[in-house]
Amino acid sequence: MTQDELKTLAGKAALDYVVEGSIVGVGTGSTVNKFIDALGGIKHRIRGAVSSSEASTVRLRSYGIEVFDPNEVEDIPVYIDGADEINKSGCMIKGGGGALTREKILAAQAHQFICVADESKLVDVLGFFPLPVEVIPMARAQIERRLQKMGATPQWRKGFVTDNGNHIIDARGLKIVDPADMEAIISQWVGVVTVGIFAAQRASVCLLARSHGLEVLRFD
Ligand code: 5RP
Repeated sequence: MTQDELKTLAGKAALDYVVEGSIVGVGTGSTVNKFIDALGGIKHRIRGAVSSSEASTVRLRSYGIEVFDPNEVEDIPVYIDGADEINKSGCMIKGGGGALTREKILAAQAHQFICVADESKLVDVLGFFPLPVEVIPMARAQIERRLQKMGATPQWRKGFVTDNGNHIIDARGLKIVDPADMEAIISQWVGVVTVGIFAAQRASVCLLARSHGLEVLRFD
């Protein structure tokens, strides 16, 4: 199977987790796009969606799926999203597409995070993928210095502005052995909007597409 076929396998499998008549939390990225394409086929069975990015919103609307403001929605049974890396406890690095803040907000609002990924995303230790950190633009240089002190090589994602008008720093070279601890530390630095470690909002389930078929990893 090609990587694109693996993404389709994971994206389609997530349909099984969609709750009839509910508002579905929808993430961002190429794997989630496969989920949205499949969701279009069962749109009459859901009330609508909340979306973590402008790009996903456009795709959802192209299928006639109503996209709600999360402020108008109380109950989101499931949030379906991809990951840049996921470990064997369900902790993830996210934000490769720059949508990490809205992704974390929706993940916090939802009862269950269903991660859709191909097998290349499963790792023993998070950190080979550069860790995205969304920052208020005027704090960028001081956050870069703090990341350097932590042993990382920070790189400003130049020319990229998030949906919230902020900047992204990608921190390379971190070995994230305790994701919850590092998430807590970086999150409290002034000027950080969101760090792309999802440990407090880790996945409940990962639908992992492997060349021999789908594997379902459960984390709680
Ligand atoms: C976007 C994300 C994505 O979920 C992550 O980058 C995975 O994307 P893809 O499915 O395209 O590999 O966190 O901010």
